[in-house]
Amino acid sequence: MEQNGFKVAVVGATGAVGNLMVKVLEERAFPVSELKLLASARSIGKTLGFKGRQIAVEELVEESFEGIQLALFSAGSAISRKFAPIAARSGAVVIDNSSAWRMDPQVPLVVPEVNPDAALSHSGIIANPNCSTIQMVVALKPIYDAVGITRIVVTTFQAVSGTGKRAIEELRTQVSDIMQGRETVRQIYPHQIAFNCFPHIGAFLENGFSEEEMKMVNETQKIFSDPEIRVCATTVRIPVIYVHSEAVNIETKKPVSPEQVRTLLQAASGVRVIDDPSSAGYPVPLDAAGTDDTFVGRIRRDPSVENGLAMWVVADNIRKGAATNAVQIAEVLLSRGRL
Ligand SMILES: NC(=O)c1ccc[n+]([C@@H]2O[C@H](COP(=O)([O-])OP(=O)(O)OC[C@H]3O[C@@H](n4cnc5c(N)ncnc54)[C@H](OP(=O)(O)O)[C@@H]3O)[C@@H](O)[C@H]2O)c1
Repeated sequence: MEQNGFKVAVVGATGAVGNLMVKVLEERAFPVSELKLLASARSIGKTLGFKGRQIAVEELVEESFEGIQLALFSAGSAISRKFAPIAARSGAVVIDNSSAWRMDPQVPLVVPEVNPDAALSHSGIIANPNCSTIQMVVALKPIYDAVGITRIVVTTFQAVSGTGKRAIEELRTQVSDIMQGRETVRQIYPHQIAFNCFPHIGAFLENGFSEEEMKMVNETQKIFSDPEIRVCATTVRIPVIYVHSEAVNIETKKPVSPEQVRTLLQAASGVRVIDDPSSAGYPVPLDAAGTDDTFVGRIRRDPSVENGLAMWVVADNIRKGAATNAVQIAEVLLSRGRL
């Protein structure tokens, strides 16, 4: 721990995202003088490693945030709705991974490669966008700035880690049961996820879209500060453990060639272009897992519309899509002297 560091709390530290937040704080050498690991009463007795020390997990209670300067939340919306204001009132800056505060006009929704300055206008809570939105806007921001984007049509291929640690277990157990000739058991998903996929992430709404699909619409408009940008999403769960992939199709305001887009993206922070299809050179989940970049490939002209482009965007959903993005927001605050 660093004497001149910050007192940091991770809420949901035993979960898929929270666990990784602890790792990412260490990997990126974020200055931490004290780390408080918070979860439910079920986790009392567990410890997690940080910088060579084992730290005991504590139960989250209203008093947990006394003296805390930075609180990273990833314990679901209900916990964030209740405890994020408590943490903020006690003086912490909250960076929240749940969807509880994302669309609140008082709460900035931040992707550091896209709208870092928005973080500075916070009143105690900053929201981390949905994982599928983050990787899409990171890939599209350089194009948006160069030629404008009027419409996005996106289909996602989302890993089970996006649903949390119990969903990872469900996929592993179902695969093992099938290989052993046993019946599969479903607890988390509406269908068997092993050797299957389904276009159903979050509840369905009256307009026929799922909650996940509408998050991609609303969050993209908020992050780009562009209520006019049209977005149509289809979100699909697939039997991959880590890393979301997206087939993204855009219409730009001005014409732009695939070569120009490759050049723009090669220069962009946080983006890696892998685009050599003739030698099977395109991003895939197994290569992106465990990394912090957003990978883009298969960049090509869409001949079905004027100014149309299609591409393939891949990123680790619990790193760039969650934990890394949250720590990067904290780094923005730190670098601007706002923590
Ligand atoms: N996974 C992703 O790709 C992703 C991406 C972006 C955002 N998010 C968001 O991040 C949040 C966590 O997701 P996850 O995937 O990490 O879920 P997860 O693996 O199920 O972990 C949930 C965490 O919340 C804690 N928790 C649950 N109930 C609690 C309570 N009553 N009091 C205190 N802690 C409690 C759990 O503690 P116990 O272990 O003690 O139960 C655990 O640490 C969700 O809001 C999710 O939408 C996830």
